[in-house]
Amino acid sequence: SAHQWQAPGPNNSRGPCPGLNTLANHGFLPRSGTNITIPMILDAMDEGFNVQPITILRASAKLGLLTTDNIDNFDLQGLALHGTIEHDASLSRNDFALGDNIHFNETIFTTLNNSNPGVDYYNTTSAGQVLVQRLEEDKIANPNLINTQKEFFVRVGESALYLSVMGNATTGVAPKQFVQIFFREERLPLEEGWKRSDVPIDDDTLSFVTDEISNVTTWEPSGAVVCPWIHLQ
Ligand code: HEM
Ligand code: MG
Repeated sequence: SAHQWQAPGPNNSRGPCPGLNTLANHGFLPRSGTNITIPMILDAMDEGFNVQPITILRASAKLGLLTTDNIDNFDLQGLALHGTIEHDASLSRNDFALGDNIHFNETIFTTLNNSNPGVDYYNTTSAGQVLVQRLEEDKIANPNLINTQKEFFVRVGESALYLSVMGNATTGVAPKQFVQIFFREERLPLEEGWKRSDVPIDDDTLSFVTDEISNVTTWEPSGAVVCPWIHLQ
């Protein structure tokens, strides 16, 4: 069907976002991963995940335009421009300063993968612990990491997103198997029983999950002292 999963080909653009890569791998976004417009993003998120035009994602889509010289579209790989949206201490990608900040990295992903031991789901508590742990690991691996309020805000939002799209958007509980397939294969785990959320994922649901994660997360700025501003292509 039109929305069958297909691995990206060598000329297809994929980037540091497992959500957008998954939408492209299922043809909700162009499989080429190129010339993506903001309306295309908003439609694809709705169709694929029942994600509504949440404030943080509308803002991210607009920031995407700053990663390219194109006027009204961008490529998925270009989103890796360090310091625009892309940040250090990711869940599944290495830091820009340490090498590859674009592709899935199984070693980096170990922290999230092995979190919440003894049960078969991740939740807001485990997601908060993973954010703290990734930061502690990264302070050792990359002492010059950038860790300001901006990066923290984005990281918490991304964690709320993987819980919401792969799990229950109201409670923030997500089956481990679904989350792992989403990150590793950038695939919707349909055969495994995943279903697109019945509940529209919107500002209300996402801010609930985001707040729950923040509540269990201690965070302080560290590393390179930078103005929390954006980098232009
Ligand atoms: C990273 C999910 C929409 C750009 C991430 C991460 C997740 C995620 C879970 C963290 C990856 C990691 O830490 O390894 C989603 C979902 C989306 C969505 C589920 C929609 C339903 C968007 C949009 C944009 C965007 C609209 C901008 C056009 C990025 C970028 C990163 C990222 C640049 C890399 C940040 C980093 O880890 O350094 N996304 N995202 N995402 N996302 Fe998305
Ligand atoms: Mg990153």
